[in-house]
Amino acid sequence: MSRNESVRVLLVCLGNICRSPTAHGVLEHRLQAAGLHWVTVDSAGTAAYHQGKGPDARATAAAARRGVALAHLRARQVVAADFNTFDLILAMDAQNLADLREMAPLDARASVRLFLDFAQDLAVDEVPDPYYGGAYGFEQVLDLVEAAADGLVERLRSGDWR
Ligand code: 4NP
Repeated sequence: MSRNESVRVLLVCLGNICRSPTAHGVLEHRLQAAGLHWVTVDSAGTAAYHQGKGPDARATAAAARRGVALAHLRARQVVAADFNTFDLILAMDAQNLADLREMAPLDARASVRLFLDFAQDLAVDEVPDPYYGGAYGFEQVLDLVEAAADGLVERLRSGDWR
């Protein structure tokens, strides 16, 4: 694929108010810093509970401390069309991945994987759900998501992202 063709990335968690908007904000920030303007990013949840809402205030505050703005994002649920609109659909945990595989249409074009597959040297492969926990969980989400975003930016830059 030529560098001039866009690559579309969808980041997915359960509610689309904690992990995937954090990943969305961090990845967009890193792509901009790297000059990869041909990559577009969106996020969504496998569930509809928080449709239309902004990110959790704890996620927004934790990201802001690292220079990443999230407040403008709005939650939405994954829809069948996403599997043909996006090139990469990246799940935060194994349950999200299983739910995505179950909802994928037969003609899905997107590659559906775990986001942390793109992180180097991590001992974990899932981003834990921070919703019912304390502030530490949101810092851990940021640490994991930053590692995966950096790895994904490198893979996008080299063209080896499929
Ligand atoms: P997220 O976190 O999947 O990272 O957005 C959650 C947000 C809300 C709920 C669960 C997880 N909930 O059950 O409402």
